[in-house]
Amino acid sequence: MKVGYFITGTDTGVGKTIVSAAILRGFIKKGLKVGAMKPIETGCLNKDGILLPSDGMFLRDMAEMNDPLEFVTPIKFENPLSPFVASKLEDKDIDLERIFKVFENLKKKYDYMVVEGIGGLMVPITKILKKKAKAIYFVRDLIKDMAMEVIIVSRPTLGTINHTFLTVEALKIKKIPIKGFIINYSTAIKGDIATTTNPEILSEILDIPLLGIFPYLTELNKDNIGETALKSLDFEALIK
Ligand SMILES: Nc1ncnc2c1ncn2[C@@H]1O[C@H](COP(=O)(O)OP(=O)(O)OP(=O)(O)O)[C@@H](O)[C@H]1O
Ligand SMILES: [Mg+2]
Repeated sequence: MKVGYFITGTDTGVGKTIVSAAILRGFIKKGLKVGAMKPIETGCLNKDGILLPSDGMFLRDMAEMNDPLEFVTPIKFENPLSPFVASKLEDKDIDLERIFKVFENLKKKYDYMVVEGIGGLMVPITKILKKKAKAIYFVRDLIKDMAMEVIIVSRPTLGTINHTFLTVEALKIKKIPIKGFIINYSTAIKGDIATTTNPEILSEILDIPLLGIFPYLTELNKDNIGETALKSLDFEALIK
């Protein structure tokens, strides 16, 4: 049975949320029932004591889910920090079991789950006991425990070869399956020499498939994201 994809990025702000939305909208256009999660979100707006997770809210809307927002984003923090640091600062423990429980339930309900990561792979989440010693639990461990296949979102700009390669290596070391990578244009960059050559070079250097190049969009609504997704992402490979 298909589970879906965990969307990680080479860094924070590379376009994980937009690419997750694109995959969700494309799946919906293909007639599939999809669910989304952003299991931990930091930097949430505090509205009268209620934390609002903007990525979780956006993805829930894009997936057209009617599950409570609590299921999409079970763990929230106000400070825009890694979960590990935000949890210390806000004095709130992170209950990983809650994430797994919600995920198991949503998995049963949907054809595909799309789960957005938190920053990049080595973002610390919490401390756990491992072989009786304390160890840091990273986003990479969360992916392993959710047993999901990974899609990497990369920037097209200078520096992306190094960041994408490091991300692939960090996944391979833990034997985490990689579906492929997607290059996302989060800004309206003019085609400089690095940006122009990077897609081909990345495809040549990496032994994982390029699943598409997602362009910069001036309007980020459901229709526009969905139509662009079908044109720019490889849904034949994604639906397998
Ligand atoms: N293809 C695109 N077209 C237009 N704007 C984009 C595109 N991709 C990303 N952006 C914008 O760039 C910013 C960063 O993108 P996004 O929020 O998807 O990154 P992220 O990797 O999810 O970040 P975070 O680590 O904070 O979750 C957002 O303001 C988003 O709207
Ligand atoms: Mg995001």
